[in-house]
Amino acid sequence: MPRFSKAVSSLRSSEIRDLMTLASRPDIISFAGGMPGNELFPVEAVEELFRGLDLKKKQAAFQYGPTPGLPSLLESLGGFLEKKGLPVKENRLLITTGSQQGLNLLAKAFIDPGEPVLVENPCFIGALSAFRASEAELRGVAVDRDGISMEALQQELDRKERAKFLYITPYFHNPAGLLYTAERKAQLINALQGQHIPLIEDDAYGDLYFYEEDRPRLKPIKAINPAGINVCYTGSFSKILGPGLRLGWMLAPDEIYQKCELIKQSADACSPSFTQVLADAFIRSGQIYTYIAGVRQEYKRRAEAMVAALREHMPDYVQWNEPRGGFYIWLTLPDEADATRIMMEAVEGGAVFVAGKTFDPEGKRNNSLRLSYCNNSPEQIAEGIPIVAAAIRKFCG
Ligand SMILES: Cc1ncc(COP(=O)(O)O)c(C=O)c1O
Repeated sequence: MPRFSKAVSSLRSSEIRDLMTLASRPDIISFAGGMPGNELFPVEAVEELFRGLDLKKKQAAFQYGPTPGLPSLLESLGGFLEKKGLPVKENRLLITTGSQQGLNLLAKAFIDPGEPVLVENPCFIGALSAFRASEAELRGVAVDRDGISMEALQQELDRKERAKFLYITPYFHNPAGLLYTAERKAQLINALQGQHIPLIEDDAYGDLYFYEEDRPRLKPIKAINPAGINVCYTGSFSKILGPGLRLGWMLAPDEIYQKCELIKQSADACSPSFTQVLADAFIRSGQIYTYIAGVRQEYKRRAEAMVAALREHMPDYVQWNEPRGGFYIWLTLPDEADATRIMMEAVEGGAVFVAGKTFDPEGKRNNSLRLSYCNNSPEQIAEGIPIVAAAIRKFCG
C-alpha cells in the first residue's frame, strides 16, 4: 500500500465536487455549482481579440512566462485594480493560477501543522480545503447580516494562541451571499490593528453588484489601506471572464509577496501564458467593462427570479438573504433540519443544491443550504425552486 503523507491523508473530496457529478445528470436542475452560465462567456469577442494580436504576442502565449505574471498583464490588471482605489504601486501584484492558488500559497506561507487560522462560518469551501491541506486548525467565526460577528471575532482575538491570519469574503459572500457594511469593515479594521494577524480579503465577486448605490460598500479594505494591518487582497478572472482561464491575482505587501512567489515557483513555475495574453487583451480593449456590465444585469435577472420563486413557494420558517450581487442565496432552516437528507429528496425530484455543512469549518451545522442562481434561466429557476420547497416541507413540515 502506498504510504501517503499525513497532510494528504487528511484531505477529503469536497461534497461540491461529488455533487457536480450528480448534478451533471442532464435531467437535474442544478443550483449547486458556483460557475457562470456557459452561454454568457464572451467567446466571439475573445476569438476576435486573439486573431488581432501580432505574431510576437501569439508566440508568447505558447511560451513559459515569468513566475509573477506576464509584464503586460501585470500592467493592464494594475490599471484595472487602481480604478477600484487599490494601492497597486505600494504593494506587489502576483498573477495566480486561479485565486484558489493564491489561497493555497498564503496557506503554505503562513501555516505550520496544527496552527490556528480564523475563517468565517460559513466559509468558502475552497479556502477551507486550502487551509486544511496545510493542516491548519480552523476556527470558525460566525457571520450576521452585516459581516463577521465582532463579538465572536473578539472572543477569538482574546485567545492565548494567536491565529496566523483571518480570511474573509466581504463582497457577496460565498456561500452566505452577504455584503459587509462599511461600519462592520471599520470595526474589523479597529479590532485587527496591532494584533499582528494578516487579513486575507477575498474579492472574487465584488464586480458583480446589482445596485449602483452599493458601490461605496464595495471599497476593499485593501483600498482603505489601514495602517498596521497586512492585507492580502485576492481576486479572480473566473466570474468576470471565465474560470477556464485559471487566472487570479494577489495584491500583497512586498514581504508576503516574496514568500508567495517562491512557493509559486515550486508549484507551477508560471500561470498559463495563453490565458494571460487573452485576459490582457480583454482588459486593454476595454471590453472587460462592457462585459461585466452585461453579466451584472443577467445575474440580477436570475437572482430576482429566484427570490420571486422563493417568496412564492418556501414555507414561512425558511429565511434567506435577498442578494445584492454575486451568485448565491443562503437558506436557513429550523435548527433540527438536516440539509443533506433534504438534498437527497430534492435530487429524487430533479433539483440539487449544496447542504450547509459543506461550508462549516467543523463540517457539522447542517440546517442551511446554498442555492446558486448564476447558471440557470428564470424558467429553470421557476421549475426547480418548488422541488426544493417540497423537499424542505417533507422533512420540516
Ligand atoms: C469566494 C471565492 N474565492 C475564490 C474562488 C476561486 O476562484 P478561482 O480559483 O476560480 O479564481 C471562488 C470560486 O468559486 C470563490 O467563490
